[in-house]
Amino acid sequence: MSGLDIDRLGRRAEAMLEELAAISEEPDRLTRRYLTPEHKRAAHLVAQWMAEAGMTTAEDALGTIRGHYPMAGETPGANAVPRLLIGSHIDTVINAGKYDGMLGVVCGILAVEHFRDAERRMPFAVDVLAFGDEEGVRFPTVLSSSAALAGTFDPAWLDGKDRDGVTLDAAMRDYGLDPAAIPAAAMSRDEALAYVEIHIEQGPVLEHGDKPLGVVTSIAGQFRTRVTVSGMAGHAGTVPMPLRQDALLAAAEMTLAAEQIAKAHPEAAMVATVGQISVKPGAINVIPDRVEFVLDLRAASDAPRHAALQSFTARAEALAAARGCSVAFETYHDCPTAGCAPWLQDGLGRSIENLGLAAPRLVSGAGHDGQAMAGLTDFAMMFVRCNGGISHNPLEFSTVADMGAAVAALIRFIEDFTPPARS
Ligand code: GLV
Ligand code: MN
Ligand code: MN
Repeated sequence: MSGLDIDRLGRRAEAMLEELAAISEEPDRLTRRYLTPEHKRAAHLVAQWMAEAGMTTAEDALGTIRGHYPMAGETPGANAVPRLLIGSHIDTVINAGKYDGMLGVVCGILAVEHFRDAERRMPFAVDVLAFGDEEGVRFPTVLSSSAALAGTFDPAWLDGKDRDGVTLDAAMRDYGLDPAAIPAAAMSRDEALAYVEIHIEQGPVLEHGDKPLGVVTSIAGQFRTRVTVSGMAGHAGTVPMPLRQDALLAAAEMTLAAEQIAKAHPEAAMVATVGQISVKPGAINVIPDRVEFVLDLRAASDAPRHAALQSFTARAEALAAARGCSVAFETYHDCPTAGCAPWLQDGLGRSIENLGLAAPRLVSGAGHDGQAMAGLTDFAMMFVRCNGGISHNPLEFSTVADMGAAVAALIRFIEDFTPPARS
């Protein structure tokens, strides 16, 4: 139907994902956090693949690997080259699956390889981007590498520390990067024609509808708020229950309050998660006096999300006070709902339909680099069906056929891509 060998494209994608998944911080599971030696090894592998696919490659100040497939008639080193940006991320969560992020990078490389094999250049360059900080599981930053490219990197992020007390600034230097070069990582708005990302859906909608591919309409907005609860340490055997100021019990009630608040707003697809918590002093026989957790709060629109955070902080203050504790909040990530550009949604939809497939529209509850790239240029996303909607889990899985269809649709999208006229 498409004239493209979808099975071969899918098998190539699968083999590349396998190779990337072997690069892990841990022997028996996939964990590859930002700026670790394993991130560097994965980045080098991706750069090698990009070069083999006919791209020139560069690493920017955040460690993003940028492959560049020149436009027709481009002179090497030319400035202000209009480019279509295609990307995703190569960092992972702890105990990750092998598709989240990596699939988008691999699809971009395979699409460019197709054009190189066909000796075909477009009237615009194609840049494939492999970002490093999408998951935000190491530092208190999220999307910092795409934000730098979009020119919205906040220098205060450099002081954020990982769980070992290493600052982002120090980790960058250790990796071989220069924080002073961050402003130069920003791409000019004149050059960026659009940003397009392919990603596994990470939810069950496509599978439920028996559709391999879909087009994203928007990405849910998100808060990440660090909550610090302070109480009073004491002897686990001697302090009577009514006299305790147990910070963990107060924090436990706060996590349940977050659940109740999110459940009260299904119309906004609101979700609240506490996936990280630290209890101090952390001894079996000591009443906890300091608990820190991060609330991850998301919704499909921004007003209910803001109202929910306000209601959470009020509830948490009351719950802390009732136990003689205090509580403090620090929201370090507030990403608004990001809408995908209709003209790009239409282009992706057509490219999917050209393969003889339906192109359903759906919202993304997961965060993506497109949220940061929206500060630079129009963006859109194509989702690929994944088994059981499972993600952030080693059981993550997409079929060769679905991945091949995604690469084929991307190739068709690039062939038909016509940027809007600019004034
Ligand atoms: C990234 O996957 C996120 O949505 O947290
Ligand atoms: Mn992702
Ligand atoms: Mn993820």
